[in-house]
Amino acid sequence: MNILLLGSGGREHALAWKLNQSVWANPLFIAPGNAGTAQCGINVDIDITDFLAIEKFCIDKKIEMVVVGPEEPLVNGLCDHFKSKEELQKIYFIGPSKSGARLEGSKSFAKEFMLRHNIPTASYKQFDNTNYEEGISFLKDHTLPIVLKADGLAAGKGVMICQNHIEAIAEYELMLQQNKFGDAGKKIVVEEFLTGIELSIFVLTDGKNYLLLPEAKDYKRIGEGDTGLNTGGMGAVSPVPFATGSFMQKVETRIIKPTIDGLHEEEIDYKGFIFIGLINVDGEPYVIEYNCRLGDPETEVVIPRLENDLVGLFIATSNQELDQVKLSVDKRSAATVMAVSRGYPVTYEKGYEIYGLKKNYGKDSLVFQAGTAENSEKRIVTSGGRVLCVTSYGKNIAEAAARSLEILKEDIDYDGIYYRTDIGYEFS
Ligand code: AMP
Ligand code: GLY
Repeated sequence: MNILLLGSGGREHALAWKLNQSVWANPLFIAPGNAGTAQCGINVDIDITDFLAIEKFCIDKKIEMVVVGPEEPLVNGLCDHFKSKEELQKIYFIGPSKSGARLEGSKSFAKEFMLRHNIPTASYKQFDNTNYEEGISFLKDHTLPIVLKADGLAAGKGVMICQNHIEAIAEYELMLQQNKFGDAGKKIVVEEFLTGIELSIFVLTDGKNYLLLPEAKDYKRIGEGDTGLNTGGMGAVSPVPFATGSFMQKVETRIIKPTIDGLHEEEIDYKGFIFIGLINVDGEPYVIEYNCRLGDPETEVVIPRLENDLVGLFIATSNQELDQVKLSVDKRSAATVMAVSRGYPVTYEKGYEIYGLKKNYGKDSLVFQAGTAENSEKRIVTSGGRVLCVTSYGKNIAEAAARSLEILKEDIDYDGIYYRTDIGYEFS
């Protein structure tokens, strides 16, 4: 089956690695991919926001399945584009319609959806320029801290947790009056702050049935012990020890089932992943956010634990037959540690040669590349803030994380390499 995977991060390298193992994947194209995905298939230089270029490639190469990694093309309606064209309609498309992608693309839509379907989440109110003054009074009386969220996609920077009222009102004004996030911040959700531990849940749905993939926890802060600036993710672990059977039972009955049923009832076309960011507040799960894709770097621990053929899962998704599939999960733990560029997440340099990359790191470890590229001398160099991650299996999280660290210390190097040495620390 001719397959096209869209995206270029560590998530896409993990997906490409897994797709490439399928009995069905031949050939696999990745657009635009990175130096790591080039080991699993053929990279093609297509801008994933250019729908017509994607369409042309699919027709030229007789693509039969498209898998979308990042949210942006989905929020912008790539699925709908495929469904609207006769030549593209038959292609298996993994990723929701524009309407389904609003779960991530509009925080206010997601909140209203949760309210309609009685799904537990933080209480909230939404404001825009039509009720601007009301928002100021609401903020003045709000308990601290206050969570402000830009409605639309804001490159992961649209959530502000304000510790005092002055800061909250200043952020509110910046978004609504100074266009801090452009159109994405023209509407704001103000919500209650929830205290607890977060985890990431991944569901693959065909719009009617679903499979619950292994859960994961990511580590967003740059510094050891979860300190310093927020990043795109410095590591992840799976499984998550506090996601016990009874907790996950609550997650399924209160959150996952009502979400899938809600999409079905509202006739929202959704064939793809739902990533639910959850918070465990004293044993009770609440939704922090929905995403219409897999997480990064969570994918780099979730996908290696999945034993099913991924193309087979996607075919079942497209045919709305996920009720006939049984998921098989590797019992071992997995941990991934992300190596970044010096200065990330603020400013950093690129173009440094990466040493120590191998095809094989033994049976317990894998290296997934993120911000990497091949230079004109055919050497693999850094080309982003998050450069690569090392995923390892272990009998527990501590053993898996230690194996990944060993590879980073002993094998891999580039100028300015930095990584956290404490991923999974609370589970050791
Ligand atoms: P999001 O972009 O929605 O994932 O939010 C970014 C981060 O902000 C989340 O991962 C949480 O750590 C935090 N956050 C968002 N909403 C809340 C909330 N209501 N209470 C506490 N923390 C939150
Ligand atoms: N790791 C969080 C995300 O992918 O949004």
